[in-house]
Amino acid sequence: MLPCPHIVLSEQAGSFGRGSPSFVIADWLSPRFFLMRNALKHKRGISPSPSGNRSFEPAQTPASSLPSLRQAAASCKACDLWKTATQTVFGEGSSHAHIMMVGEQPGDLEDRTGRPFVGPAGKLLDQALSEAGIDRSDVYVTNVVKHFKWSPAERGKRRIHKKPRDSDIQACRPWLDAELAVVKPKILVCLGATAAQSLLGKEFRVSRQRGQIIESPLAPHVVATVHPSSILRAQDDESRHSQMQAFVQDLKHIAQLIKKK
Ligand code: URA
Repeated sequence: MLPCPHIVLSEQAGSFGRGSPSFVIADWLSPRFFLMRNALKHKRGISPSPSGNRSFEPAQTPASSLPSLRQAAASCKACDLWKTATQTVFGEGSSHAHIMMVGEQPGDLEDRTGRPFVGPAGKLLDQALSEAGIDRSDVYVTNVVKHFKWSPAERGKRRIHKKPRDSDIQACRPWLDAELAVVKPKILVCLGATAAQSLLGKEFRVSRQRGQIIESPLAPHVVATVHPSSILRAQDDESRHSQMQAFVQDLKHIAQLIKKK
C-alpha cells in the first residue's frame, strides 16, 4: 500500500533536516507565493512533489530573507550532488534587484569560492552587462542547480562539468522559487537552454526564441538568451565577437525594459 502523503511528509521532514527546502518552502504564507507555485504546478502539469518520492511541502522555519535562505541551502541534501561538490553555491545580489539572471549550475571556480558566476563565464557576463549599460548591482545572479556536478578528467586533476539531470533540477527548484519570492524581479533572464527549458518548458528553443518576452507567472517579463559559456566555446575570434555582440544586444533590450518600468 502506498503511504499517505502525511506519512511521507513526516518521514521526510525528519530525514531532510533544517537545510532542506522542505523546511523552508511552505513558510511563504504570502498569497503571491502560493499563487505562483499553484500556477506553476498547473502549467507544468506536475504533482506538488518536485522529485518523485520527495515532498518539499512541510515547513516550520521562516526563511523570508536571502541570508536565511542561503544559510538553509548550505546544508541541502535534496539530491546527491552535495556529496561531490565543495559547497552549495547560492544566488548572489540585492533582494531589490530588478533583474534576476539564472544559469545552469556553478562551475569549478564557483564551487571553490561559493559564489555564482565568478569564473570565465561570469567575467564575460560582467563585460556584456557593462557594454549593455546594465548596472551589476541591479542584477541578482543564480542557477537552477546550486551544486557543481562534475566527473574527474581521464588524465590530470581537472573536474569536468556534467550536465544536471531533470531530477537534480527539480530537487533544487524550491530554492529558485524561494529566491524569486524574495527578490520578485521585474525581469527574469534565463541564460542558456538548461535554465530556459527548466523554467519555460522542454519545448523552448533558445536558438529560435532568444530575446522574446515570454508570458509566465514567474515574473512580469521573462526572457531567455544564450549562456555566456557558449560564447567562450566559439570556434574562432570572429564568431566569438559576433556572438558577444548578439548577447549584448539581448541585454540592451532588457535594459530598455527596466527603463520603461
Ligand atoms: N555557469 C553557470 O551556469 N553558472 C555559474 O554560476 C557559472 C557558470
